[in-house]
Amino acid sequence: MAVNLKGRSLLTLLDYTPEEIRYLLDISHQVKAESRAREKHKRFEGMTLAMLFEKRSTRTRLAFETAFTEEGGHAIFLSKNDIQLGAKESIEDTARVLGRMVDAIMFRGFKQKTVEILAEYSGVPVYNGLTDDYHPTQVLADLMTIEENFGRLKGIKLVFMGDGRNNMANSLMIGAAKMGFHYVIVSPESLRPRKELVERVTEIAKETGAKIEFTDNVDEGVRGADVIYTDVWASMGEEDKLQERMKLLKPFQVNEELMKKTGKEGTIFMHCLPAVKGQEVTFEVIEGKQSRVWDEAENRKHTIKAIMIATLI
Ligand code: CP
Ligand code: NVA
Repeated sequence: MAVNLKGRSLLTLLDYTPEEIRYLLDISHQVKAESRAREKHKRFEGMTLAMLFEKRSTRTRLAFETAFTEEGGHAIFLSKNDIQLGAKESIEDTARVLGRMVDAIMFRGFKQKTVEILAEYSGVPVYNGLTDDYHPTQVLADLMTIEENFGRLKGIKLVFMGDGRNNMANSLMIGAAKMGFHYVIVSPESLRPRKELVERVTEIAKETGAKIEFTDNVDEGVRGADVIYTDVWASMGEEDKLQERMKLLKPFQVNEELMKKTGKEGTIFMHCLPAVKGQEVTFEVIEGKQSRVWDEAENRKHTIKAIMIATLI
């Protein structure tokens, strides 16, 4: 059956089938080609997108706002200082009001539950622009970037280094399981994804042929990696853990020596950004030949445009 995502929210990639993810990636490649050809479309003319932020953002805000605006839509930025989100007014009530006035909602914040309530009560598509648990729009951009580099997704060995229980480690694990990757989290044992999520992705992996592994052995973990991925050691909202993480995660830093340990010439380095150079990755690696971080950042816009095209028109 042909894929149809009209009216759907994107709260986590757990809710999407591999075929639906494939469909979103196909549209992403198409809109990137249109952008390169300077083709203009007005797909969101007369539409409004509300963008709710409890946490800061550069890429996600820019990607949603520029993608929506250049297609003729109007995107409204609302920070938690501007609206009554869960403070004076419940999230349910805010969702109902937004649903009466806008065509879609993007939310970035703390709890996954908030984005779920927004979707349940607004009646319009809701996009998760990052929560403590997941960052699904980032993973679509990452899948696109990997596909551009290797021409495929299946069988790619993707290694996540560092805080193996953060939103990126979780979401990449889901994307990797859905698309048949060999995914390895290389982290201290105390920083692995929650058991219930591991069980879910293990079930998915059985169907797709993906392999999901966890290790604290850096040499073994990175051997043969096509992609080395890392993220900050303390995510937004857990800055108080930084000192402890710096000690714990120092052996998991991505540096030139670690990149050599893959034993492959063609290994690429990825990072969702923002990066703290000198902590999770060295200056030499992020600025080096193997780094794809700027393509990855650009692809946020194309993949986010693709999600909105697929779910709104
Ligand atoms: N990668 C990412 O989500 O970046 P921002 O925090 O700048 O949106
Ligand atoms: N794990 C990071 C990702 C930022 C895009 C954070 O949540 O801060």
